[in-house]
Amino acid sequence: MADRKAQLTIEGLDAPIDLPIYSGTAGPEVIDVRDLVKSGYFTYDPGFVSTASCESGITFIDGANGILLHRGYPIDQLADHSNFTEMAYLLLEGELPNDEQYEDFNSRIRNHTMVHEQIANFFKGFRRDAHPMAVMCGVAGALSAFYHDSLDITKEYDREVSAIRLIAKMPTLAAMCYKYNIGQPFMYPRNDLDYAENFLYMMFGNPCEEFKVNPVMAKAMDRIFMLHADHEQNASTSTVRLAGSTGANPFACVSAGIAALWGPAHGGANEAVLNMLAEIGDESEENIQRYVDRAKDKNDPFRLMGFGHRVYRNFDPRAKVMKETCDEVLSELGMGDDPRLKIAKRLEEIALEDDYFIERKLYPNVDFYSGIILKALGVPTNMFTVIFAVARTIGWVSHWNEMIANGVRIGRPRQLYTGYTQRDYPSQG
Ligand code: SDX
Repeated sequence: MADRKAQLTIEGLDAPIDLPIYSGTAGPEVIDVRDLVKSGYFTYDPGFVSTASCESGITFIDGANGILLHRGYPIDQLADHSNFTEMAYLLLEGELPNDEQYEDFNSRIRNHTMVHEQIANFFKGFRRDAHPMAVMCGVAGALSAFYHDSLDITKEYDREVSAIRLIAKMPTLAAMCYKYNIGQPFMYPRNDLDYAENFLYMMFGNPCEEFKVNPVMAKAMDRIFMLHADHEQNASTSTVRLAGSTGANPFACVSAGIAALWGPAHGGANEAVLNMLAEIGDESEENIQRYVDRAKDKNDPFRLMGFGHRVYRNFDPRAKVMKETCDEVLSELGMGDDPRLKIAKRLEEIALEDDYFIERKLYPNVDFYSGIILKALGVPTNMFTVIFAVARTIGWVSHWNEMIANGVRIGRPRQLYTGYTQRDYPSQG
């Protein structure tokens, strides 16, 4: 792959160090620094701002131009013309499915949505008021106890079965987290419903009456799943890759990804946005401006949640689609005057005209509007990140599968050591 090289000149070294440069099909070239350790040096990149951790063909992000491609297809085109199940196939297999492939994939997912009956017992160990993400971390990890022995990750077939099981069972576990939290009985999945519809059925149905999912809500839920499906080497996906590099069971790797996603700087931001909008409360101009000023104040820990991104230095293309979906869903549900939406839109307008946000290229990200839609669908705020985890499972599984299929060395970063140099244990004499 190396057709060019970089030369690193270090004072005191006899000769410069040649480092190969590789080009991909799009995006920045990379400098291969793996041999640098032979010269006694490490690179240093806390937060991995300038580090490519792997080679991948799944998702491409152009942060400067606000572009997001899944296997080459722009996210806005997929959102307009595809659905979550078809996009899941695309992410996992690399191409859009033909009709036969789609029907087979869709049927395999629909017929794997039920979880082992013993899984229900894990919930009983949690208090009812436990945060659903804490429960999700636990029960998703527990899946590894049920499939540990029927899994040889070196076999493509075993990896495919694990992928289907994870994609299919995460909505069931998520809905169980919600039902446990509100004290209602678990709803069994139905094989006759599509992915998003089945999830909303398990969330809001109950055994005492027939429950028909509103098709507007099902379409909105499917769109939300699509917009959260994958996003290159983000923190939770990198966590799954690192865990997978040790050969760990994919169910355990996904559980590690769920834990990483929970943070408010990552997948927890959608919950934090709604809490922020609730804190702002009053949609008056001066009140909103006060919060924008707080977000700019270095001495104030308040940040504009749902704003900013490590990669996007332009609009997050998902945020644009999410905003359109937000308008569509709320007007179709007769909730167009939701005060939270008004505050969010005014917050965005004020921030995008403010030099502080313009200079730092801070724009709304995927989390800024998603919570407003989820609220309109009747989803409680503490379930937002659980839903993000359900959607991102296809991304985690696709990256895990790509990594294992291509062969991987265990991930083992080094450090800049700044602790004590060697010293002797105090003599007892
Ligand atoms: C997701 O990686 C992914 O792809 C993630 C994700 C995915 O799909 O997987 O896209 C999902 O996690 C989206 C991001 C959700 N998080 C939030 O909305 C939380 C609020 N955003 C910030 O915490 C922050 O913008 C991050 C975490 C998203 C990015 O952090 P960086 O890249 O480390 O940027 P930074 O903290 O160094 O900020 C650069 C400057 C700083 O100011 P200065 O020190 O230069 O003066 O911008 C400021 C920051 O203080 N800044 C903000 C801000 N975000 C950054 N100031 C106010 N409000 C904000 N939201």
